[in-house]
Order: sequence, then C-alpha cells, then structure tokens
Amino acid sequence: MIDPFGRKISYLRVSVTDRCDLRCVYCMAEDMTFLPKKEVLTLEELDRLCGAFIALGTEKIRLTGGEPLVRKNVISLFRSLGQRLDGGGLKELTVTTNGTQLEKMAGDLYAAGVRRINVSLDSLDPATFTALTRWGKIEPTLDGIFAAKAAGLQVKINAVAMKGVNEHEFDRMLVWCGEHGFDLCLIETMPLGEISQDRTDQYLPLSTVRSRLREHWTLQETDYKTGGPARYYTVKETGRRIGFITPMTHNFCESCNRVRLTCTGTLYMCLGQDDAADLRRVLRDPKVDEAGLQQAILEAIARKPKGHDFVIDRDRQAPAVARHMSVTGG
Ligand code: GTP
Ligand code: 5AD
Ligand code: SF4
Repeated sequence: MIDPFGRKISYLRVSVTDRCDLRCVYCMAEDMTFLPKKEVLTLEELDRLCGAFIALGTEKIRLTGGEPLVRKNVISLFRSLGQRLDGGGLKELTVTTNGTQLEKMAGDLYAAGVRRINVSLDSLDPATFTALTRWGKIEPTLDGIFAAKAAGLQVKINAVAMKGVNEHEFDRMLVWCGEHGFDLCLIETMPLGEISQDRTDQYLPLSTVRSRLREHWTLQETDYKTGGPARYYTVKETGRRIGFITPMTHNFCESCNRVRLTCTGTLYMCLGQDDAADLRRVLRDPKVDEAGLQQAILEAIARKPKGHDFVIDRDRQAPAVARHMSVTGG
C-alpha cells in the first residue's frame, strides 16, 4: 500500500475498544460516553479486517484502545492474529496498554506471539499516578509491567511529558528503566478531544527536556527503529534507550507508515485529521467480497493526507481534532 506521497503503509493500529478502566487527564474527559455495544465490531470482524490489511502488505499490527486488555476475550484476537506471524505476512503483533490487566494476561500474550509491548506509565510517584489517571492505583500497573518482563516480553515505557506534573521525574524514570531493562519513550501532548485540562499550561517541548537530560546523561545517537515515530538515543550510563516522540516540535509525518482502525471499523488515515473511511459498512455488506473489501482499503489509503496540523495555542480554544485520543488509541 503506497499513499499519494509515496509512503509505504505497513503499520496498522487497531483500537479494539473505546473503553478504559482509567481516565488519564490528557486523554479523556471524566464523564465519557462510551459506544453502545452494537456499534462495535466483533472480534471475528476485526480479525477479518486485519486479514485484509495483511493481504495488502501490513507487516505490523498494534492493538490499542481505550485500554485493549479490558475488552472481553481480546486474547482470542491476539491468538488468531498471532497465527499470521512467521510466514503469514505479519512480522510484528504488539499492544499498547496501561498495564492494569497484564499480571493476568502477560503469559497469554507471549504465547500468542507478542514479544514487545508498550506500557503507559507517566509517573513513578503513587500520588501523581492517581491524580493523572483520576482514580488509578500504581500497583496494578507496576505488577503488570513486572509480570510482562517475567513472561519474556520486552517492555517500553511511554510517558506523556507534562510541565509541572512529571517533568522532575524523568531522571528517576531513566534510572528505574535502566535498572529493570526497559526503554523509555517521552511523548509531547497532542491536542485531541475536550479534556477539561489546559493543554497550553501543561505542554512541554521535548527539545527542552532533551537538553536538560543531556546535563546529566550521555545520549548517543542510534539508528534503532521500531516502525513507530520515536527517535531513539542510547543512554550510555544505563545501556537502555530513550525515545522522543515529538509531533509538535519535530513533525515526523514525512515518514508516516501507519493508519488507524477503530473498534467501529472506521479507518482514520491520520491521527491529526478528521477524514475517515467507513469499513464496517463495506465489511457487513453481503454483496462485497474479499476483493471489494481490499479495494475499499486501497481507496482510503489513496486519501491519506500529508500530515497533521496540531498546534497548541493559548488563543485557539478548540482542540485540533474533536475526537478523543481513546477513539484511536494514539
Ligand atoms: P513502537 O512500535 O514501539 O514504535 O510504538 P509506537 O510509538 O508506534 O506506539 P505507541 O502506541 O507506544 O505510541 C506512542 C505515542 O506515539 C502515542 O502518543 C501515539 O499517539 C504517538 N503516535 C504514534 N503514531 C503516531 C503518528 O502517526 N502521529 C502522531 N502524531 N503520533 C503518533
Ligand atoms: N497526547 C499524547 N499522547 C497521548 N496518549 C494519550 N493521550 C495523549 C495525548 N493527548 C498516549 C498514552 C499512550 C499512547 C497510546 O498515547 O499515554 O501511551
Ligand atoms: Fe486509558 Fe490509555 Fe487513555 Fe489513560 S491514556 S485514559 S490508560 S486509554
């Protein structure tokens, strides 16, 4: 799949549910209205859609949410997708999770073929973690992370960088990640959905953070690539990597290789744009066969825009995109 800007699209992010057991302040409003079940594709339908993407050249699938691991029986989707690894066209099957369900699910994920997972953890401080997630406790996430490690999964920690909230913790997080063998990815806040929080006040450019970190750490350039948007450095003192995801200060759209499918079968061609294709209608149309489904996907890819136009601006009240991050899982 090649888009109008010559980019090869090989990475599909699939949000399997819009629901979550937490309410991270930068991601959701406190009182979210979730989708009624009848709107949501079955796991079999999601599997069929993923199959069509794989047939068209998708090599990497990441399940996201909401929180993907709270969807009932989601492991069956991991298992069926896992069967397409090793010669079935898929090269990586992975997940981004808040970690709360990992203690019970890590072993099953590994058995399904997952090898590398990303866990959101914005703070190591229990009180800050609770404030950020509105009611979450840090222990289940930490227990989940260690269960994942014990199950043989490689863990990357994701932290959204927020001014005055967790910016004083990055040194400690680097030490902690180094001790436990995790990579760390810092992320700039993106303006999606009304969140009842002032994004301008909390916005922290990662160019500033990187300069600050360099006062204490030796960050060595590396060409390590995962197919995601992070730019990685090796931290000489710990031997682990730190990645920076900088949609605001250093746009990476030029090398975009991904599209996003929601749990209702809507395909968003860009995280920062509203244009979308309704694949559920095509999928459920008895007159449309496999070739027709693939054709609908190709037509959507042909509409992929050049990039996002996120701005964080005190004078601009509305978020760049009205839908919440939890619709696409980032
Ligand atoms: P790796 O496979 O480890 O590289 O993962 P990833 O960075 O692709 O996925 P993850 O779910 O960990 O996402 C980390 C952050 O990157 C989230 O905040 C996402 O919203 C953001 N992100 C991922 N892809 C894009 C993108 O295409 N555009 C923008 N603006 N942000 C993205
Ligand atoms: N800006 C940047 N990252 C976000 N995430 C959720 N909401 C936002 C936002 N507004 C992150 C989560 C998770 C990843 C999928 O996206 O912390 O790690
Ligand atoms: Fe849930 Fe993830 Fe959104 Fe936090 S960022 S509310 S854990 S979906």
